[in-house]
Amino acid sequence: MIAFEAMKAPLGAFVQGFDPALIEAADFADVLADGLLAHSVLVFRGAEISAADLVRLGRAFGELEILPEPDKRHLDHPEIFNLSNVGPDGQLVGFDDPQAVFLRGTQRWHTDSSFRQVPALCTMLYAVQVPTRGGQTQFADMRKALTLLPPEDQEEVATLRLVHSYEYSRANNPGRMDPMTDDERAKYPPVEHPWVRTHSDGTKSLYMGGHASHIVDRDESESQQWFAEIEAQLSAHDVVYEHQWQANDLVVWDNRTTLHRLLAYDIANDRRIMRRITVAGRGG
Ligand SMILES: [Fe+2]
Repeated sequence: MIAFEAMKAPLGAFVQGFDPALIEAADFADVLADGLLAHSVLVFRGAEISAADLVRLGRAFGELEILPEPDKRHLDHPEIFNLSNVGPDGQLVGFDDPQAVFLRGTQRWHTDSSFRQVPALCTMLYAVQVPTRGGQTQFADMRKALTLLPPEDQEEVATLRLVHSYEYSRANNPGRMDPMTDDERAKYPPVEHPWVRTHSDGTKSLYMGGHASHIVDRDESESQQWFAEIEAQLSAHDVVYEHQWQANDLVVWDNRTTLHRLLAYDIANDRRIMRRITVAGRGG
């Protein structure tokens, strides 16, 4: 069975002993789920993992999300979202191409799919090709981030709810994205989630990030100022793990307890090809 080797970092562990043949073992999903709750970020390093095995691994964990943009879906496995700066013709896309603009949007601290009524449990991101420089992913431990707040703020945030909106995050992307269609708007209306989530092990974490537009019953600028103050503290304290990608790395992160962001790379000149699947949450 797999084992976890904690990293010399505020969060994260390497997964040792993984073999795709283990995926259907009776206790595999439970062991992985326990590791994820304990370490927040799990790194599988070494052997190539096929697209089919990636989907099997995700399914062992739960239902997979189908992401909003159909043009980014893997042809054989629609559950796989291609995060890539290479177009279908095999050529790098331009800096202002919609595909690159979307990727640049992931450079903001966020948690995947927080705009859904039932937000994601975890994301699995597999590296097919990594850029020569940059393109790291940073993960912030939002349990620790909660403890960094002054005690009176810790009490206050526990009473507040945030509105998360895909329309909002798209409109505020660093590059211009097409406005949502009426159909997309109907499918992804703004949702509310508590700012503080309580997990099955009794721990609590801040749940926020780039899809969060505002605090319920407060105006947007006041809300965004508070979000920015908290996010500014993440890098200033020992709550961040920065993953330096290697080809064939699979990183699984807990979207309930972490925020993440992509670090910049030369998106118009340096290939970065990743496969992503997202396991839907269970409403807890
Ligand atoms: Fe993301």
